[in-house]
Amino acid sequence: MTTVAGVFVHEKGLCESDEVGEGTRVWAFAHVLPGARVGRDCNICDGAFVETGAVLGDRVTVKNGTLVFAGVTCEDEVFLGPNVLFTNDFRPRAAIRKGPGELVDTVVRQGASLGAGTVVVCGVEIGRYAFAAAGSVVTRSVPAHAFVAGNPARPKGWVCECGERLHDGLHCAACGLDFALVSDGEGLTRA
Ligand SMILES: CC(C)(COP(=O)(O)OP(=O)(O)OC[C@H]1O[C@@H](n2cnc3c(N)ncnc32)[C@H](O)[C@@H]1OP(=O)(O)O)[C@@H](O)C(=O)NCCC(=O)NCCS
Ligand SMILES: [Zn+2]
Repeated sequence: MTTVAGVFVHEKGLCESDEVGEGTRVWAFAHVLPGARVGRDCNICDGAFVETGAVLGDRVTVKNGTLVFAGVTCEDEVFLGPNVLFTNDFRPRAAIRKGPGELVDTVVRQGASLGAGTVVVCGVEIGRYAFAAAGSVVTRSVPAHAFVAGNPARPKGWVCECGERLHDGLHCAACGLDFALVSDGEGLTRA
């Protein structure tokens, strides 16, 4: 095992980017490409892939086998479960090569969680603290704090910053936070 400039890279891991923040760990068979930007204290687990042009904030978790392609930005404290799959070409054709400018961006806002096996069709914004259930196929933008599930992922309710469901009154029985609806499209904010 090796440690380079405050970044831990497992001896079977491959970290080719020099834009990785202190405290980040890159585990076995994970691959971080040159030009991928990764913040501090992230955890890039076995078999994950972070491509040139992908951006991860601080304290982001990338579980095993998850693929983060160019054009994907995950803000601070985003949780990507195992085998989460991003895309960046809306109508791919093998015979038509597309440069970075032709790819479609995706943003995952601070604190959002994508459950195991979530597929994200490119061009969407997943709002702050949103939560996609395991196996979701996200085809449209997700409002802040929304809980979505299924294929295609549909809104099922709201979740707190702590991950618990919010029910009537948008009060979290688990941690005590209160929320207010900004709009159906934008979702919730702290009250
Ligand atoms: C979402 C989750 C937290 C369950 O939350 P919950 O509040 O207990 O949800 P419920 O079981 O009450 O279900 C609420 C609704 O969502 C649906 N639902 C829940 N999980 C679902 C899933 N994975 N896929 C599709 N629908 C799902 C339920 O069928 C139910 O739908 P309905 O209201 O139309 O009947 C859990 O199913 C989940 O996916 N967790 C993520 C686990 C994971 O991937 N961890 C990664 C690290 S190991
Ligand atoms: Zn809470």
